Amino acid sequence: MILITRKISPVGYLCTMIRKPYQKDFKLGVLGGGQLGRMLLQEAIDLDVKIAALDPDENAPCHQIVHEFVHGSFKDKQTVLDFGKDKDLITVEIEHVNIEALKELEDSGIPVYPQPDLLAIVQDKGLQKEFYSKNNIPTAPYALVNDKAEAMERRDLLPFAQKLRKGGYDGKGVSIIRSEQDFEKAFDAPSVLEQFVDFEKELAVIVARSANGEVKAFPTVELEFNPEANLVELLFAPAEISDSIDEKARSVAMKTIEAFGFVGLLAVELFLTKDGDILVNEVAPRPHNSGHQTIEGNVTSQYAQHLRAILGLPLGSTDQVRPAGMVNLLGAPDYTGEAYYEGLEKVLGLPGVYPHLYGKSTTKPFRKMGHVTITADTVGEVKRLANEVKSTVVVKTQ
Ligand SMILES: Nc1ncnc2c1ncn2[C@@H]1O[C@H](COP(=O)(O)OP(=O)(O)O)[C@@H](O)[C@H]1O
Ligand SMILES: [Mg+2]
Repeated sequence: MILITRKISPVGYLCTMIRKPYQKDFKLGVLGGGQLGRMLLQEAIDLDVKIAALDPDENAPCHQIVHEFVHGSFKDKQTVLDFGKDKDLITVEIEHVNIEALKELEDSGIPVYPQPDLLAIVQDKGLQKEFYSKNNIPTAPYALVNDKAEAMERRDLLPFAQKLRKGGYDGKGVSIIRSEQDFEKAFDAPSVLEQFVDFEKELAVIVARSANGEVKAFPTVELEFNPEANLVELLFAPAEISDSIDEKARSVAMKTIEAFGFVGLLAVELFLTKDGDILVNEVAPRPHNSGHQTIEGNVTSQYAQHLRAILGLPLGSTDQVRPAGMVNLLGAPDYTGEAYYEGLEKVLGLPGVYPHLYGKSTTKPFRKMGHVTITADTVGEVKRLANEVKSTVVVKTQ
């Protein structure tokens, strides 16, 4: 058993007993029961950590496989309070959760990682951008507006990316406004207007910080997006960048997690500009799809690392064992209904190809149904296999 001190007020500190995960009946509460929770569970089994998950979808990917599945909204204060009160530790696999409830649980002595007051900053892209400016973390210039009328007054910022301050994900709260003609597609809601970055590449670094302050970053990954769905379609690691850019990206990610003081994982999405600068786009304080390939590609997976960080255990090596990549399996555009994975058996016959199906019974256009990890001797071979997987597997209905 270890003792940690937690700040409970500007003047007071509370000693909290963190029980070891392998102690009897230790239970980790996870807000969200989606695919990230499902992969977290796979690592939790090896530490004999029992997981309880809360999710509004009664058929969520964690349904039936966690020790306790609670059907309910992680946005509802009372539901989160009821869910959290008998847990030894609480974490999230999605950031859009009820902060007030998490703060109350934290005040009652239950450790909550990532910390609720930091989650509140990440939930609001406006507060996130202000945080980067205040902490000298490189990011694109921006302005905050309250509505569409105010956005339309900022012709001086064109072209820009307009981002809803709250609630956006997978590109759904982002609108690229290139000129005045695009003003009609501007959001009429509080948002960030961020200077359009004509980036060379999109990169991401996943970094972990443990409850005792240890920090480790995974190697930089490179992302390719599906232009129609705005979802990551292919990523590979190591990124095809120079060592100095990799170094810069990792040090920006480490600076970012240290500035926040997060305990747990932080996925830092980055732009590499044509001038070789690294800018922070946004962060996610949890396992992230830009780290899926760490399960097969790295000494420690991002899921194992998140558990080690929040449990106050030593962090694992982030070294990459083999070049690796990941292809998302998105529902094909024209199919809705019971999912069928055409071509899956064929790709299973390829060397170094590992499917991860999320257990969602119904497919919809562009729904994230699973992903495939690919490992090979070179990034070139990873990309070749990834393209083969992409053109072979189709998620449709039978
Ligand atoms: N300032 C920008 N300039 C150019 N492209 C951008 C900018 N901001 C976002 N994008 C594009 O939109 C995508 C989604 O934006 P992001 O802020 O990451 O929102 P989400 O929360 O939906 O992931 C990015 O991955 C990038 O491709
Ligand atoms: Mg993003």
